[in-house]
Amino acid sequence: MMTEISFQQEFEIKGGDFVRAGEASCEIKNLLKELGVAMQVVRRAAIVSYEAEMNVIMYAGSGRLDLSVTSDRVQIVVDDRGPGIEDVELAMSEGYSTATPEMRELGFGAGMGLPNIKRNSDIFKIHSKVGRGTRLEMTIRTNGHRL
Ligand SMILES: Nc1ncnc2c1ncn2[C@@H]1O[C@H](COP(=O)(O)OP(=O)(O)O)[C@@H](O)[C@H]1O
Ligand SMILES: [Mg+2]
Repeated sequence: MMTEISFQQEFEIKGGDFVRAGEASCEIKNLLKELGVAMQVVRRAAIVSYEAEMNVIMYAGSGRLDLSVTSDRVQIVVDDRGPGIEDVELAMSEGYSTATPEMRELGFGAGMGLPNIKRNSDIFKIHSKVGRGTRLEMTIRTNGHRL
């Protein structure tokens, strides 16, 4: 029988902090590798955490990322206190972005973050409330790939 290995860690994300952009997702990638998670799972987890982290940095005041790992799945939950998303379906469509010219200068704003998060998750949930914030829940199954 497979042993239930579990791991959990929280990361704070500061809105507007482009200097430390990508730090949490980089740390997550290294942690998952150290835990022995299969590379194809690590890669997908790195993509979803990076895109979610960047959206907090670009669009929200502050946020928190919660990583939890068990033998059968990696789960990443990102909660922010930000403006929320008025039209989630529109925000989810490929190429849609409200990035500022300054953000586009830095290479952001392709409008592929949320679509890529959905594509790389086995289970994806998004809840957003205008004036309150946004919560993303991503689950990536290990599908028997050993931890
Ligand atoms: N956490 C968030 N808070 C508020 N708005 C968001 C958040 N995440 C995404 N959005 C909105 O959804 C749009 C699409 O996001 P995304 O697909 O990641 O593309 P991009 O980051 O390149 O703009 C963003 O331009 C923004 O308007
Ligand atoms: Mg984005």
